[in-house]
Amino acid sequence: MFALGTAIFAAVLGALGYALRRARGQSAPRPFNGNALIAVGGVIIPAAIIISLVVLTALTQRALSAPPTPPALTIDVIGHQFWWEVRYPQHGVTTANEIHLPTGQPVQLRLTSADVIHSFWVPQLAGKLDLNPGQTNTLWIQADRADVYRGICAEFCGIQHTLMLFLVVAEPPDQFAAWLEARRAPPPRPVEPVLQRGQRVFSEAGCAFCHAIEGTVATPPTGTVGPDLTHLGSRRTLAAGIIDNTPENLASWIVRPQEIKPGNRMPNTPLGAEDLQALVAYLESLR
Ligand code: CUA
Repeated sequence: MFALGTAIFAAVLGALGYALRRARGQSAPRPFNGNALIAVGGVIIPAAIIISLVVLTALTQRALSAPPTPPALTIDVIGHQFWWEVRYPQHGVTTANEIHLPTGQPVQLRLTSADVIHSFWVPQLAGKLDLNPGQTNTLWIQADRADVYRGICAEFCGIQHTLMLFLVVAEPPDQFAAWLEARRAPPPRPVEPVLQRGQRVFSEAGCAFCHAIEGTVATPPTGTVGPDLTHLGSRRTLAAGIIDNTPENLASWIVRPQEIKPGNRMPNTPLGAEDLQALVAYLESLR
């Protein structure tokens, strides 16, 4: 485009210089009779240039949008108000708000939404792509450097749109494989009394209506309103990337999520101190 633009600019200046030179010394302007010239220079040539640029742009975009090798790994990302469901369909793993992937290889993402339009954006890895209800958009990303990349929702989707964050954790392939393998099995049954109590609180306080924990009464497909908590203890953040996953933060989040993230779908859940402590200990033990 730069070369073509430069050539056209030079040609126009050349024509202008030629016209000025020819006009010099003439007392009156000569009648202009150049309809054919206008048709060629004003319509046909610009149309040909623009059409060829459109074709070249489409071909270049197609080349840029194809991954260098066919992606071996597929990850499904489903937008919810206001969090991200993340599934590894080839491995039967479900998590939330944290996408792990191996470094140095393209990964296919299939994006869709459970409610309204969201937009997937990890500025360091790829451009934005919308998550539309009832439609699947595909995108491939590749992280060459092992790192944690921040992602955000880039389409206004409701009151907590700005707090709909996620992390992309890119790890060397063997580390990623170990992470994935560990997430495939349900967490072990709690043995310690406090953890058993926590598990009981989880069902009795109503958490199981919205959240799934593999291997418990809340085994999927029940509990799909909120994030799957099967391996919650291994995640870095809570509440879609907005607070660190610490026992204190988890306790605050359970009791008063409407203060931390007003308008989100999780109701405040008042619990006695001991029940809360047991529930937090249980959830943090899920790794
Ligand atoms: Cu989801 Cu904005």
